[in-house]
Amino acid sequence: MGYRIVVVGATGNVGREMLNILAERQFPVDELAVLASRRSLGTEVTFGEKTLTTKDLDTFDFTGWDMALFAVGSEATKKYAPKAAAAGCVVIDNSSLYRYDPDVPLIVPECNPQDVHGYAKKNIIANPNCSTAQMVVALKPLHDRAKIKRVVVSTYQSVSGSGKEAMEELWEQTKAVYNPTSEVPAKVYPKEIAFNVIPHIDVFMEDGSTKEEWKMVAETKKIIDPSIKVTATCVRVPVFVGHSESVNIEFEEFLDEDEARDILRESPGIMVIDKREDGGYVTPKECVGDFATFISRIRQDSTIDNGINLWCVSDNLRKGAALNAVQIAELLGREVLKKG
Ligand SMILES: NC(=O)c1ccc[n+]([C@@H]2O[C@H](COP(=O)([O-])OP(=O)(O)OC[C@H]3O[C@@H](n4cnc5c(N)ncnc54)[C@H](OP(=O)(O)O)[C@@H]3O)[C@@H](O)[C@H]2O)c1
Repeated sequence: MGYRIVVVGATGNVGREMLNILAERQFPVDELAVLASRRSLGTEVTFGEKTLTTKDLDTFDFTGWDMALFAVGSEATKKYAPKAAAAGCVVIDNSSLYRYDPDVPLIVPECNPQDVHGYAKKNIIANPNCSTAQMVVALKPLHDRAKIKRVVVSTYQSVSGSGKEAMEELWEQTKAVYNPTSEVPAKVYPKEIAFNVIPHIDVFMEDGSTKEEWKMVAETKKIIDPSIKVTATCVRVPVFVGHSESVNIEFEEFLDEDEARDILRESPGIMVIDKREDGGYVTPKECVGDFATFISRIRQDSTIDNGINLWCVSDNLRKGAALNAVQIAELLGREVLKKG
């Protein structure tokens, strides 16, 4: 016997990827419902070899469904996730709405699988922000060995992290550069993204940082250890899929770069590609469609006593969203619901 699964936001970037990953990982699905807004009622989406037709989230009854994987943004989540949870269906949510709620576990299965049991308070589990997810996969095993004091991270985030409209904006603006008769004004982003980089993701906070930067700080603390200090600069770059991060880590104890490389090589969810030669590292193009978080450029930071620098790349629609959500569903199934 398998699970009755609902994918909410099935026409979106993350929703479609969740369907791909459920199929690829042969998740034990008995029945699958795919939901979106009324606008796209009847739209066809693929699940493995099958084609499914989307239903309207607004009129869907979650009673009798085991898990709902939500990828619809905070506003729609606020309206519909409590309904699903109250109907006895466990919500695994990709939006930021519940991530900082003390009664909702925020889970990256490679880091804090034990927190899954906290789901029962609200029947909801939160999935982290894309830029946090890939970073904590790399930080956790290093923290277990040498205790991290402080992290300085700069991100290079792809436009798919802002949804399908943002991908369209980059595509249209890029084409318009070669066809100057058509102008494509910035809509999703505050400035033109084609052939540009924008040091601004999500809204500004009072202290001058952005909400995306704040999320990396708060989520790393919740997932790994509240004592870790994080300072982040989050930047949008004209890449379709794949987030990259330059990460500087300061430890309590000395950690040699070779040992750090060995630890990362042995750790779950990580692929180390770190040859000190032309092309001996991973770029976002190569990570698309992969499950792993790729780590390259591991090296000592000679400006402090116990420092390591590294480069971290992952498919933001996968580890940063859909894959992590499906891994949470697998964990919940294995540890709690025990069907399949
Ligand atoms: N992209 C990433 O890397 C990433 C990473 C982590 C978390 N997330 C989060 O995941 C969520 C989805 O992101 P996305 O990139 O997949 O966005 P997207 O491509 O814009 O897709 C949004 C999906 O939500 C549906 N939707 C929106 N409002 C709805 C409503 N009122 N009722 C029913 N369905 C509604 C849309 O349906 P229609 O097609 O019918 O409009 C579509 O299926 C967001 O909360 C985002 O912050 C994304």
